Amino acid sequence: MSKDTLNNLRRKIENLDVALLKLLNERAEVSVQIGKLKAQDGLSVYDRCREEAIYRYLAQHSQGPLKISDINKIFGEIISVSRKLQSSIACNESESQVKSGSVSNKSTPSGNTSVYGIMGNPVAHSMSPLMHNAAFRLLGIDAIYLPFEVKDLPGAVAGMRALQIRGASVTHPFKTRVLELIDEIDITAKKVGAVNTLVLEGDSIYGTNTDWAGAVRSIEGLLPIKNNHFVVVGAGGAARAVVYGITRKGGKVTVVNRTRDKGLALAETFDASFAPLVDIVKVSGDCLINTTSVGMYPKVEETPVPQGVLSRYKAVVDIIYNPFKTRLLKEAESAGCMVANGLDMFIFQGVEQFKIWTGEEPPVQQMKDLVVEELETT
Ligand SMILES: NC(=O)c1ccc[n+]([C@@H]2O[C@H](COP(=O)([O-])OP(=O)(O)OC[C@H]3O[C@@H](n4cnc5c(N)ncnc54)[C@H](OP(=O)(O)O)[C@@H]3O)[C@@H](O)[C@H]2O)c1
Repeated sequence: MSKDTLNNLRRKIENLDVALLKLLNERAEVSVQIGKLKAQDGLSVYDRCREEAIYRYLAQHSQGPLKISDINKIFGEIISVSRKLQSSIACNESESQVKSGSVSNKSTPSGNTSVYGIMGNPVAHSMSPLMHNAAFRLLGIDAIYLPFEVKDLPGAVAGMRALQIRGASVTHPFKTRVLELIDEIDITAKKVGAVNTLVLEGDSIYGTNTDWAGAVRSIEGLLPIKNNHFVVVGAGGAARAVVYGITRKGGKVTVVNRTRDKGLALAETFDASFAPLVDIVKVSGDCLINTTSVGMYPKVEETPVPQGVLSRYKAVVDIIYNPFKTRLLKEAESAGCMVANGLDMFIFQGVEQFKIWTGEEPPVQQMKDLVVEELETT
């Protein structure tokens, strides 16, 4: 190839890049206008259905040579930047509400401030403080939610009574151990076998579980639970909440797990069937749910299930939300399945906690937007 031809082609690329840049900036301006409308109407920046519609529309209009997977990657970045633009508009809107006095911005806690928190180890990565503090602020509730990295669980529970901490989330690795340290456990937590929510009532601590409710909300965003068959991969704490939620709502479950005894025990508790993970190719259902940590950041190349089995399912849920789209979900999408990540499960377990602690309906969209924005920037 002559040098002139190469230079001509490069000039062509430069002209195309400038044209693309102009279009991208025009697109960003329209996205900002949409962001303003969403902020005015209190709508969520993140709209999964709308984003999926954009990808479908692009796939229909592409004439190649780019592959659909490449187009999805490129537009994934464009959409992510648009979300960030729209999130900053939503945050400015919240701040101006605070400034105008329509919501409280009490930044220094006083003796009257109610204290809530999350007990876990580690907890530094937890999105719960961001979500609950935003809800307190936006509703003008004089309360604060803190991350407590617990080294001594009995001490932490005793400290909750002593310090009159009004409520706490409980996370890994304490959801089961905390059962024996509190005064009362409701029937849901007993059935799930784990507590993720503590409530201080006088000097007594009462424990419940809202993980199952988050899981149900997340699944019902894709398909009804009643009379459908769910293959739940994993048999840890999260799996217990998921299986409880599905059976409570009238769904049928097959538990699939690497360790036979653990999987069998979970299946027996909820009258479900069991298959070892090596036999995943022998099972099928309407919806597959991954409750293992396989595929979670930083090991994003891993997947718990071979790609070949995914086309047997109408829907696939991965309760991981970091990354947003695990390898499992990408492969499930390619196999034509409806997909959902663990974000809704996380948000709605928190929404239920907030309602229990305050009796108020929290601002779900804003909580979700903040978590999405934080996950995208970290
Ligand atoms: N979205 C949400 O709101 C939410 C809530 C809770 C948890 N989660 C996520 O759910 C995941 C599990 O949490 P958990 O508390 O249930 O953990 P856990 O109690 O430790 O259970 C982990 C499960 O994953 C299985 N597993 C782990 N590594 C595996 C591998 N390499 N191959 C096959 N199976 C493997 C384990 O199988 P064995 O029994 O064979 O060891 C076990 O069944 C985590 O990623 C967590 O972040 C999300």
